[in-house]
Amino acid sequence: MRLACSDCEAIADAAEITCRSCGGLLAFGAADVDGAAVARLFAERRSSRDPLDTSGVWRYRELLPAISRDAVVTMRENAVPIYDAPLGAKRAGMKRLAYLHLGMNPTGSFKDCGMTVAVSRAHERGMRAAICASTGNTAAAMAAYCARAGMAAIVLVPAVGISASKVAQTLDYGATVLAIDGDFDAALAVVRRLDAKSIAVVNSINPYRIEGQKCAAFRLLDERNWNVPDWLVVPGGNLGNASAFGKGFREARALGLIDRIPRIAVIQASGAAPFAHVFRDGGELVPVTAKTTATAIKIGAPASWKKALAEVHASNGVVIHVDDDAIADARATIGRDGIGCEPASAATLAGLTRLVADGTIDREADVVLALTGHVLKDTAYATSFHESHATQANRIVRVGNDDELFARIEQVARPAHA
Ligand code: F0G
Repeated sequence: MRLACSDCEAIADAAEITCRSCGGLLAFGAADVDGAAVARLFAERRSSRDPLDTSGVWRYRELLPAISRDAVVTMRENAVPIYDAPLGAKRAGMKRLAYLHLGMNPTGSFKDCGMTVAVSRAHERGMRAAICASTGNTAAAMAAYCARAGMAAIVLVPAVGISASKVAQTLDYGATVLAIDGDFDAALAVVRRLDAKSIAVVNSINPYRIEGQKCAAFRLLDERNWNVPDWLVVPGGNLGNASAFGKGFREARALGLIDRIPRIAVIQASGAAPFAHVFRDGGELVPVTAKTTATAIKIGAPASWKKALAEVHASNGVVIHVDDDAIADARATIGRDGIGCEPASAATLAGLTRLVADGTIDREADVVLALTGHVLKDTAYATSFHESHATQANRIVRVGNDDELFARIEQVARPAHA
């Protein structure tokens, strides 16, 4: 597969991360394969027990850059479910709705889809160590895959303002965690200064990450028997994910697996919405100092904004932002559907609610929300939400004695009509 600059189209060396001529991000071209033949292969692999076939990434390996089987580090990533979302639908004013739950990945976020490819590639090249900047999920995914590959993992995280659950998980996987006085954007700026030839840089500026993440689009379509939804709604932070989904959909269409692509709606948090602004105003992206309680997407200078903007336009999509209270309330609704997710993921439902209200999305449309992270990724957020006065807060009931205890049990268990 051809690797070239996504800005100036100069052909790139596979060991680079950014274009040597203009500094732009690199991207792989589409694989040159027969659509009907790969469609048959993908279907056959549904009943296979080969670890590469049970992975929702490597199952589509003909559409990925070639990596030798021996080097592949896989943990059955992207074998994620699609759930129906009755309460989410009701909240948004939709007839029906579905969640593609990427939080059901091995480390609890969609990052595993890209990390399996980026770390496998680094492993194949014999790299000793990998590094990333992260708001927590990339860190956890990288640490886990590096542990499996026998590679050292170094993460740069903001010292304050990210979820402790994600950091704890990353420490468990054995990574070296370097906490900096600065935000995600500052951490990524440091990582971008490193020589990608001597350490594997596995942020989503790494084109192998995007190749893995585009498989979330294949998974979604494959699980729906290649029946295309009208809209896919994704949260936007550094914007690797929105660009990967767009690439996946376009490639599936080029192969004849589908005949149209879903429209992509990217939702940002209002305090971290430079992409929503550039979508509205045009021109160059103006970085902001990000501020949001959805810490996963607290990003002010998204690296992949140009790629993502091209995908949003190619899909006739939209970009909007929603405030932190709307995200909190939407997250609570997703919880009540028995699914749950972390705050950043719930920006999707908050955004959908707005897009239905303003008529952008029809209430009868076939919409899928990409839930990017598991509910347990940010337990401190959930705890403080339920201790708050929010409408959907579900306070712990402290019981003083047995009488009170039995009375409470009876009260909750009693049939509603009694
Ligand atoms: N949702 C979750 C749960 C995330 O962790 C992230 C990004 C996003 C959405 C946004 O995706 O950056 O591709 O637009 N988290 C990164 C991290 C930045 O370090 O874990 P994006």
